[in-house]
Amino acid sequence: MLTLKKKTAEYIASAAASAFGEGLLSADDVLGMLEYPPDRTMGDIALPCFRLSKILRRSPVQIAEALAGGIKCEEFSSVSAVNGYLNLKIDGTAFAKRVVSDVFRDGDSYGSPKNGEGKTVVLDYSSPNVAKPFHIGHLGTTVIGHSLKLLHEFAGYECVGINYLGDWGTQFGKLIVAYKMWGDKAVIEEGGVDELVKLYVRINNEIKAEEDSNEEKKSPLADASRAEFKKLEEGNEENLALWRWFVDVSLEEYQKTYKLLGIEFDSYKGESFYTDKMPAEVEKLRNMGLLEIDDGASIVNLEKWNMPVCLILKRDGSTLYPTRDIAAAVYRKGEYNFDKAIYVTSAAQSLHFAQWFKVVELMGYDWHDQLVHVPYGTVSINGAKLATRTGNVILLKDLFAEAIARVKEIAREKNPDEAKCQEIGEKVGVGAIVFYYLSNNRMRDINFMMEDALSFDGNTGPYAQYTYARTCSVLEKAGMDGVMTDAPLSELESELAKTISVFPERINQAIADYEPSVVTRYILDLCAAFNRFYHECSIANCDDAQLKSSRIALTRATNQVLRTALHLICMQSPEKI
Ligand code: ARG
Repeated sequence: MLTLKKKTAEYIASAAASAFGEGLLSADDVLGMLEYPPDRTMGDIALPCFRLSKILRRSPVQIAEALAGGIKCEEFSSVSAVNGYLNLKIDGTAFAKRVVSDVFRDGDSYGSPKNGEGKTVVLDYSSPNVAKPFHIGHLGTTVIGHSLKLLHEFAGYECVGINYLGDWGTQFGKLIVAYKMWGDKAVIEEGGVDELVKLYVRINNEIKAEEDSNEEKKSPLADASRAEFKKLEEGNEENLALWRWFVDVSLEEYQKTYKLLGIEFDSYKGESFYTDKMPAEVEKLRNMGLLEIDDGASIVNLEKWNMPVCLILKRDGSTLYPTRDIAAAVYRKGEYNFDKAIYVTSAAQSLHFAQWFKVVELMGYDWHDQLVHVPYGTVSINGAKLATRTGNVILLKDLFAEAIARVKEIAREKNPDEAKCQEIGEKVGVGAIVFYYLSNNRMRDINFMMEDALSFDGNTGPYAQYTYARTCSVLEKAGMDGVMTDAPLSELESELAKTISVFPERINQAIADYEPSVVTRYILDLCAAFNRFYHECSIANCDDAQLKSSRIALTRATNQVLRTALHLICMQSPEKI
């Protein structure tokens, strides 16, 4: 794939070879030095030649002049040397022709860096804790994680999406006690995970009340919960059956949200799966002399790396979150032989990951540097922060339900077909939330404003989908495919072609930085460039047959790239809104 910069870099490298000799300057070296000048009157691409003085042993002015004289390419309308800069101006028409032909040639894979072939990436994301609410704090891990999976797939990686369900731990003891005391099978079958959460919240409140009622903070309910969890761990049939049921009820609910987002996981192996895989790793740690006893607990001391100790076993010998993550990573390496294992969680867990990554390194696993933690910032809604423990949270499904309901209402004004309205509501409402969320750098804390997300005016998901639908309707009206001709193009058209041409670079950057928001912002650039073109130029009604053909081809290329880009951030692209 030759993007604009790459192609330019190749021309410059070959001009440098003839002017100064072979082997001094590679196209890759040049590529890293090229800039897009902020002032476009100077040119579309520039090379600051002072960076080459050392290698080529000439002054920047001499270098720029020699290079300018050596570049011959019809895609540049002018090549000039100004104060040690090599400025290149693109010939819009020739350039657009080439870009659009690249897009049509590559089809749905246009923009793929194609550098993942033969490599495997394992992505651990979403991973809610069963029986605790699946709330908007999980939006980040779910959509960033899935978008990273789609981006890696696009680049040709073999991807394994893992939902590492929080399906083990003392919360199940509590839930079993709560269910036995207050639970009703029919109510849970009817109400699903919400009813489980209610039981969970209720027992937590009652435990707290018990603890607060006496000096020693004793709680018979907490003791009973521990006992039930112990029974579960020992394989008690009744508790195991309840546990399985709780997990199934929860999963069924999560699936609804995943379905709306178009997410499917390749594995649901949750924390419980690793119960019998931890002892071997603990044993290895012990044999390597890495474990220390600290107040009865077994820990790995990470003082040398300026981190608190990593807890491996509690005083009572039970395992912990890091213990499970270590065992899971070892298992996944064996199972998938990954080249990269990505974990997407809130930044609150950054220390946890830094700690156990270090432990894996100390254990001598040479793949420790293939582990990548991708953190993200907090989410609040309309200014209100979340409180998870009290059950006072906004559930992900409620957030989507509200967005869907609002879009449906608007759709109903124009569309009498209820099923169609539901479909639009889902595609646009869910897309609005995803787009809004992925508009910001992932580390930024987000304050979610529903009104802003759903607006058709701003830089929103509905606006992007609307622009896509507009390209579809132009193409439908045109009734022909269109090819690029030699009809001279205006500034607006070549701007659109330039925007299309930078798509591959943006994809590279999104993958390198684990940052889907790069794609979201690209979508906005592309929509803006297309809409300017659309408003100023008549497309299907253009009188000049040559120009009309080029404009339709440009619209078709936009349509294709926009669809690909929306897909990569987990969004649908409805043809009509
Ligand atoms: N279940 C955890 C939570 O909700 C997230 C798990 C992240 N993945 C991991 N391998 N630790 O906080």
